[in-house]
Amino acid sequence: MKQKISNLKLEKRRYDLKEKVSLVEKFQLWRNKPIQKIIGYIIMADVKIDLSKKVLIPRYETEELIYQTIDFIEENQYKEILDLCCGSGFIGIALKKFFNEINVCQSDIDKNAIKQTIINLKLNNIQNDVIQSNMFENINKKFDLIVSNPPYLSEKEISLISKSVLKFEPHKALFAKNNGLEFYEIIEKNLNKYLKKNGMIILEINPDNEKWFLNNGYNLIKDINGKKRIAFKKKDWIS
Ligand SMILES: C[S@@+](CC[C@H](N)C(=O)[O-])C[C@H]1O[C@@H](n2cnc3c(N)ncnc32)[C@H](O)[C@@H]1O
Repeated sequence: MKQKISNLKLEKRRYDLKEKVSLVEKFQLWRNKPIQKIIGYIIMADVKIDLSKKVLIPRYETEELIYQTIDFIEENQYKEILDLCCGSGFIGIALKKFFNEINVCQSDIDKNAIKQTIINLKLNNIQNDVIQSNMFENINKKFDLIVSNPPYLSEKEISLISKSVLKFEPHKALFAKNNGLEFYEIIEKNLNKYLKKNGMIILEINPDNEKWFLNNGYNLIKDINGKKRIAFKKKDWIS
């Protein structure tokens, strides 16, 4: 408990908030509520992300995915971007904030994610298209770049996940069938249909699935912890 209290104080300090931890907050910590949910928002990649709905709390690995995606957009002058499985809206909002001239479409199956993305677009004064869709079902155009951080934990990893994550973040934001590959397999099948010529796919991945991505022609990039966390390929390379 002491550790949790000092973590909350540290996070408050990061945001210039009063460090005092109230009784209500102590109770929330005791119930394993994540500190980001207690504070109610996070600030990463220059965007503020409200977390009042039940959505995945953006992770530092995803911030790295955003910075890598920014590099690719700049290098290739991409204009039409799809943020597939957008959750809180973190990725697509950060990209649009960085490049005002791009068009970003954000989609998710979950109505809470759609509501949260709309809240966060307003909060950051950003306009993106938002579509509720089971993967590509309601997506009707091609993109220069598709970026996605889909659910990628396999059900057998459930025992390794903390109580706090299981209780406060949606199961369907975390877990995927086929050893965590379910959504990547859907993306792979649809790349030709939804990517323009010279288009690019960039994904956050579970490092344990490295082989599958290499076998499917992806290049891998390590995260700050030395784990292969980002996979990408250009449409040219897709056989
Ligand atoms: C790991 S979270 C990522 C959220 C956000 N992109 C981020 O990085 O913080 C995965 C998201 O995929 C969504 N999702 C799960 N199944 C889906 C499906 N069949 N079609 C579209 N989105 C789905 C979940 O609702 C969740 O918001």
